[in-house]
Amino acid sequence: MIKRSIAIALCFGGLSLLQAEGGDGKRVFETYCWGCHHQSAEAFGPSFAQIASQRNEDQIRAMITDPASVSKAFGYSRNAMPPFALTENELSAISSYILSFKPKSKEGN
Ligand code: HEC
Repeated sequence: MIKRSIAIALCFGGLSLLQAEGGDGKRVFETYCWGCHHQSAEAFGPSFAQIASQRNEDQIRAMITDPASVSKAFGYSRNAMPPFALTENELSAISSYILSFKPKSKEGN
């Protein structure tokens, strides 16, 4: 019985770690991206739901660090997004945060 509750406690510990990561993504979003991107509605830039349905993690990371070349590669005629010098942790947190808005029906696209 005691062993079992330790195992359960460990499970919950793992879960809260995962949630902390999601929280980081949200924090990066609110700090750097919120002025131009919203989660589900198009703002100055495309919504995270739209981005998640058409890009993978590498493309998202590339756009954040080098929007000048990547927006061209994506076919935009303007380049209105500034580059961000994020840490490796922030990059991975914000990419998974964006990808978490991927619409379920478009899975595997
Ligand atoms: C000053 C406004 C602005 C800010 C701040 C901004 N973006 Fe953007 N973003 C844009 C615009 C506008 C586009 C559309 C491409 C263009 O015109 O350059 C875009 C495009 C993108 C794309 C590619 C969209 C596609 O075609 O799939 C990604 C990914 C992205 N932004 C992520 C981010 C993230 C992550 C942050 C925060 C770290 C951020 N942006 C902050 C304006 C902004």
